[in-house]
Amino acid sequence: MKIRKITRENFFSSLKEKERPWQEDYLGMYSSQWNGITTDPDLMMVPIDDHLVHRGDGVFDVMRCVRGKIYQLEAHFQRLSRSAKSISLNFPPDFGDIREVIKDLVLVGGERDCLIRVIVSRGPGSFSTNPFDCPSSQIYVVLVRFKGLSEAYYQEGISLITSDIPIKKSFFANIKSCNYLPNVLMKKEAVEAGSLFSVGLDEEGFLAEGSTENIGVLAADGILRFPGFERTLSGITAKRVFELSGELVKQRIIKDVRFARISPDKAYEAKEVFLTGTSLNILPVVRYDDRPIGSGSPGPVYSRLSSLLWEDMTQNQELLTEIDWESK
Ligand SMILES: Cc1ncc(COP(=O)(O)O)c(C=O)c1O
Repeated sequence: MKIRKITRENFFSSLKEKERPWQEDYLGMYSSQWNGITTDPDLMMVPIDDHLVHRGDGVFDVMRCVRGKIYQLEAHFQRLSRSAKSISLNFPPDFGDIREVIKDLVLVGGERDCLIRVIVSRGPGSFSTNPFDCPSSQIYVVLVRFKGLSEAYYQEGISLITSDIPIKKSFFANIKSCNYLPNVLMKKEAVEAGSLFSVGLDEEGFLAEGSTENIGVLAADGILRFPGFERTLSGITAKRVFELSGELVKQRIIKDVRFARISPDKAYEAKEVFLTGTSLNILPVVRYDDRPIGSGSPGPVYSRLSSLLWEDMTQNQELLTEIDWESK
């Protein structure tokens, strides 16, 4: 036999034979499998017979710790619970408060700006599709150093293409499941087109969402529109930007803000287009399908919303969860 045998004794040394520079950003992981926290990336593993791995049977959510406080923890937690409920996935029975696990992990990770990825999986049990083979669900929480997009994208704007990948039916689009193949293919097609971002269309040809972003369109009529959440994931950032846009309506900077169907043609003629998401906040689109949007550079409404969102993320005490850094 040519392939060597891996044992408990040589397992870690064999892992060290290859460099994994991306692991430098992995700050910590909690697993309900071992009910503990590790900061060693070599230990950040999930069992291959967890149905999460071989069937994508699990749900997740991603939240952000900004300057030492977790932004919108409750909203993310509620969406995670909704996603889990939609696929009849219960949290592990004797599991305590997930918020406490998250806060502990952030403290152990030690970085005030990080992304918190929470996964609830069907758990190990078999290699079948049968969820009843799994005696207990599991929770994994991974903490990754936050590295935002390059500032140039925010200053110059990004280009967007229409995706050819069929989007998920609303039932699946509403669940943040670990089955992200269409989203992966959308990202792949965007990167191959030299664009980084693509947006999917629904069956009737209206804008839906990006690979991991919602989209907002300030049309020529001065109304800011977002595709309704019945066809997309209910983005927590998009929802907040929608709410914050009310301020711009009051100040008569925009006429109104609505959830509505948006055709690509409407977007081509828009004054401004932007994407929203937890890790990118709000990102201006200056080209869509090779047509310039508005003046071809990030517009004033984008700037206003971007400032309002950042203020919210750093100062809105109602939406920020404190971490007791002193106790570290
Ligand atoms: C498919 C999809 N749409 C939209 C979003 C944006 O949602 P949020 O603002 O809650 O990050 C995400 C986030 O990852 C996503 O995966």
